[in-house]
Amino acid sequence: MKRPVRIAITGAAGSISHSLLFKIATGEMIGQDQPVILQLIEMPQAMEPLRGIAMELEDCAFPLLHSISLHDNFEEGVVGAHYVLLIGAKPRGPGMERSELIATNAPIFAHQGQAINKLANRDVKVLVVGNPANTNALIASRNAPDLSPAQFTALTRLDHNRTRGIMANHTGANPKDIRRVTVWGNHSSTQFPDLHHATIYGEPALPQIDQDWYRDTFIEKIQKRGSAIIDARGHSSAASAAQAIINHMHDWINGTPENDWVSMGIVSDGSYGIEKGIIYSFPVRCDYGRYQIVQGLEISEFAREKMTLSEQELLTEMETVKDLLPKETGESHRNLSVCLRSGTTLYDDGISLPKKQYLQTDRVR
Ligand code: NAD
Ligand code: LMR
Repeated sequence: MKRPVRIAITGAAGSISHSLLFKIATGEMIGQDQPVILQLIEMPQAMEPLRGIAMELEDCAFPLLHSISLHDNFEEGVVGAHYVLLIGAKPRGPGMERSELIATNAPIFAHQGQAINKLANRDVKVLVVGNPANTNALIASRNAPDLSPAQFTALTRLDHNRTRGIMANHTGANPKDIRRVTVWGNHSSTQFPDLHHATIYGEPALPQIDQDWYRDTFIEKIQKRGSAIIDARGHSSAASAAQAIINHMHDWINGTPENDWVSMGIVSDGSYGIEKGIIYSFPVRCDYGRYQIVQGLEISEFAREKMTLSEQELLTEMETVKDLLPKETGESHRNLSVCLRSGTTLYDDGISLPKKQYLQTDRVR
């Protein structure tokens, strides 16, 4: 048995976590041979329901669940964490855009970025789920000057999964045979689900579907899927969000399948002409715990227009939260050139970390 890793999770008594925690404890996120320590973090008023969830976890007798600790204080909860899942934030209600949550949710992530910077494991991998996820991830990363921007990501895997699931339903193919879809941009209604490079059963996807349906119906369906779920359920997606979190972290840690890629919100290095330093969803391949943007995809005029619209929206969101973005980290976020293993980021401005630096193998404090 490997030594356990520490996973800190905020919003641990919320709806997403209710599906997520049990999946993590069965080994779905990291692997069937990796014991986990869950460091569950909540608001003080939610500690009693959280205690109930911890009892249920215990009652499942999961062999991989090494231990659980409960925290009403982020600093305590994040100590030594190898993985941090920032879920705790207010969800939107019917008729709202996710960006309307900025005023309420954004300040949470500045404080959490600072605490991760001080207290988490040095090779920590952070996933921001709380909305608006891209901008919140940017705030957390910009407040962690001693960590690499490559260690902070935002969840757009739910949009990626929606793209595959809805395509599968439309074509009759199995989702596993739908590959190389990309979701570009913001986790918002400007995101662009791109099928130009996608394949179904190894053949180009676009010629296999009606072009008008793709342009006029499909794209908007993906962009507005979150709202449609809120309208139908009265609460935002939870189980599918938990599944997407599992998929995002699993692939980041263990690698993406051959012949495929995934969509992740990551700091832009300027690839595909996207403004450097914003958190934008790109197609990425993961290996050895690192990710790299898939390069060389041809971008049509149609795609470019949509990618730019989402980029502009992220720049506007960044302007709105500028008071939460310390100036000292602005340069490093704009000069990111190569992301190697997380925790090791090379910059093209001469402040690179030593070149031969590897993941820490002794992962338990
Ligand atoms: P929820 O209201 O059911 O649960 C949120 C939990 O977070 C609550 O228990 C609350 O007490 C806790 N919380 C709030 N602020 C906290 C803080 N500072 N520290 C610790 N805990 C805190 O909401 P949910 O359905 O679980 O959704 C959580 C967030 O995830 C929302 O912002 C939602 O919009 C977002 N979301 C994002 C995606 C995505 O794909 N990126 C998908 C679904 C939901
Ligand atoms: C989703 O995409 O389902 C989540 O971001 C929740 C929302 O507000 O739509």
